[in-house]
Order: sequence, then C-alpha cells, then structure tokens
Amino acid sequence: MEKRDEEQSTLGGRLARYGKVSGAMAGLAAKLVGEKYLGIDIKKDEHAQELMMALGNLKGPLMKVGQILATIPEALPSEYAQTFQQLQSNAPPMGWPFVRRRMKAELGTDWQSKFANFEKEAAAAASLGQVHKATTHDGQAIACKLQYPDMHSAIEADLRQLKLIFSLYERYDKAIQTENIHAELAARLKEELDYKLEAKYTSLYAHMLDNELNVHVPGIIDELSTDRLISSTWLDGNKILDYKDAPAEQRNTIAMNLFRAWYVPFYYYGIIHGDPHLGNYSVRKDDLSINLLDFGCVRIFPPEFVGGVIDLYKALQENDTARAVHAYETWGFENLNNEQVETLNIWARFLYGPILEDKVRPIGEVTNGIYGREIAEQVHKKLREVGGVKVPREFVFMDRAALGLGSVFLHLKAEINWYQVFNELIDGFDLAVLEKKQSEILSNFSL
Ligand SMILES: Nc1ncnc2c1ncn2[C@@H]1O[C@H](COP(=O)(O)OP(=O)(O)O)[C@@H](O)[C@H]1O
Ligand SMILES: [Mg+2]
Repeated sequence: MEKRDEEQSTLGGRLARYGKVSGAMAGLAAKLVGEKYLGIDIKKDEHAQELMMALGNLKGPLMKVGQILATIPEALPSEYAQTFQQLQSNAPPMGWPFVRRRMKAELGTDWQSKFANFEKEAAAAASLGQVHKATTHDGQAIACKLQYPDMHSAIEADLRQLKLIFSLYERYDKAIQTENIHAELAARLKEELDYKLEAKYTSLYAHMLDNELNVHVPGIIDELSTDRLISSTWLDGNKILDYKDAPAEQRNTIAMNLFRAWYVPFYYYGIIHGDPHLGNYSVRKDDLSINLLDFGCVRIFPPEFVGGVIDLYKALQENDTARAVHAYETWGFENLNNEQVETLNIWARFLYGPILEDKVRPIGEVTNGIYGREIAEQVHKKLREVGGVKVPREFVFMDRAALGLGSVFLHLKAEINWYQVFNELIDGFDLAVLEKKQSEILSNFSL
C-alpha cells in the first residue's frame, strides 16, 4: 500500500513553502514602499537575510523571476538582487512512493517494465519537478524529468506576486514600464509546464546545433515522454565553475562553445535559449566541449527582430543615430526621444562592447557585483530623468541571454576576439534566408 498521508504532507509542506515565499515577497514589497514614501529606514541587510531564509533552498518558478528582477535596477535593492542571484537548486524531493504514483500516472501501471533500471533517489532537482537517472532496455542511460503536481497553481501564484511587485515599483519609479516584461515572463513560464513542448524544443535544438561538434544536446526518448515527463539521453559533464582555474585555452574554448550554443540558433534561425542558468550546461570529459540542457524556456523571435539586433550593431559601429533609432523601433521600442535613444545607447554599448572591438579581450570589467548591474543603474537613473521607456517583449530574453552568458564569461575569465566570432556568425546575413529557415524547421518539428 502507498502511504498516502505521508505523501500528502510532503506535498503540503512544499506548497506551504511556496506560501512562505510569497509572504516574504509581499513583506518585501510593503517595506520597499514604506521606505520610499515614509522614509522608513529598513534594515536591508537583515531583511535580505530573512528573505533568503524564507526562500530557503527552494528552486521554483519564482527563482527565474527573481533572477530577472535582479537585472532591473530599483525593482529590487541591490542586496535583494544579490540574494536572488544566489538562490540554489535544492527543492525538497518527492519520496519514492510519490514518484511511483506520478510515474504510473504518466506511463501506466506497468511503467517499471519499460525501464531496465530506474533510480529511486532523484539525481537532480528541477524547477518544476525532479530528475531521475534510469536505464532503457537497450542499456542507454537516460534522465527522466518528472513534474510535481499542481505546478500550474504555483506558477499562477508567482505571477500574481510578480505583478504586485511590478505595480509597486511603477508607483514610485517611472524609468521602466513593466507590462511587457510581465507578459513575456508569464508566457514563457506557462510554456515551461508543457513538457511535450519542451521535448520538441530539445529535438529542435539538436537539429539547429547539429553542425556544432562541440555542443551536445540530449536526444528525446519519445515513448517515455509525456506532458509531464521528459526522458532524454543522459549527458555526463562537470560544472562550469569547476573550470575557473583551468588552463586559459580550456576556459576560452568552453566560453566560445557557449557563445556558439547561444548565438548560432539566434543568428541562423531567430531562436534563443532563454535560461543561461549555470545548471543548464556542463563540460564534457575532454574539458572543452559542452552539453546544453533544459529547453523549457525557448524564445522564437520574428525574423525582423534578428535584423534589428544586427542593425543596432552596425549603428553603434558607425555612430549612426538614425540607424540606431530605426533599430530600436524594430526591437519594439516606441516613440523614443533623442535623450532616450542616447540613454539606451549606453546600455547597448555595454552589451555590444565586446563585439565592437577587433581584439582579444575579456567580456568586461571584473567586478564583485552582478554583471552589468552598475551600468544598468546608470541607465535607469538617466531614464528617470529623460522619461521612462516601455520595454518590448523581445527585449526580455535577448537581454537575459547576453547578461547571463556575459556573467559566465566573466567567471571563466575568458579572453576571446568576440568581434571575430560574432562577425563570422552574421557574415552574409540575409533576412529572407533566415525567414525561410525558421519557418522550415518550425514546421518540421510541428511547432
Ligand atoms: N539529459 C540530461 N543528462 C544529465 N543530466 C540532466 C539531463 N537533464 C537534466 N539533467 C539534470 O537535471 C537538472 C534539472 O534539469 P533541467 O532540465 O535543467 O530542469 P529545469 O527546467 O527545472 O531547470 C539539470 O541541471 C541537470 O543537472
Ligand atoms: Mg535547468
């Protein structure tokens, strides 16, 4: 007999934990407003500490939201931003009886007979579930990512919480209008529930990166995958941060492989992996090539947007303001005045900086804080003076990819001629070709 009560209480505990997080967020929001309007001097450090404890080791959908929030200055004070950046993945695992019941629901009563072996202990935590290592009857090692029940409501709750934080932010700060950011996050987080879609994206990525011999993507085992279970070939690898002190050649090659893993799909197909989190890639035995995992947050852009990204590059290269304005419009920014354009250019010059100079260089200055945070603060302050901007939806994950990768390159102390790697990618760029390639692969993968 399965111990239903015990399972229920584990689930209860998990949900209570979500409640606690939400409570802490609401408390935080209230304190922020208090500080702003009433001049109450809150003890930020202490509260960040409290928040950290409430968040515990939870790795929920909220974590991604928190990490994105951390890149919008003033949405969270820097102490909180740091806290969110440090969140680790250690959700309380589902016990074996619970796993068995969930697996039965996904693959039927005889589910165990479909595996040669299925490990009872989870091998890793996932944001909406957990990953078990298993072996197929062919002897293939696989990863089974099994979703927790009720994640739908957890995500809805997080999004409501986020809306509250954004609306409080906008009440006292007009630098950024967040409506589109929320819409974009909501769309991606809801998609993340759909493991069938994620399995399709995984196969799509395997195809797009087929010619990248140093980037590996898991293969999907269709007959062992459902709406809430993804089975894929197990890819062995080491944590990227284990390579912080590796020889320069290894660090640079790993960085280059990551760069191509992100930007080959973008510049060839207009598609980006929206979650450059450290757990989503690993380094293989050769200490050079990489595994790319986790296709739960994939953004497909309108082809013109890719043109806009390249246009902005050319505009910055040539100091061509009219071209920059046109590029921002293609990105989806509306009614920008000259000062706003100048302000956005500060951000763009920071993000594009490494690819504007034809020389071997680090990605940026080494700081102790969050990559880009100081420039973001500067830009934010200027926007408050010259008038706030509405961030287009496309901006959200493009920006996140650049910041996330940039921060890894910084950790790796990678020194590369980014200009060359980038220019090789966009050499001969043709919008019509991209449009055709994108529509072909989307239809081939029934997307
Ligand atoms: N195919 C795989 N091979 C090896 N490990 C995997 C594989 N898929 C997932 N994992 C492990 O499980 C963790 C969570 O999986 P992931 O797909 O990233 O879930 P989430 O979308 O919740 O972040 C990964 O960080 C990794 O450690
Ligand atoms: Mg992941």
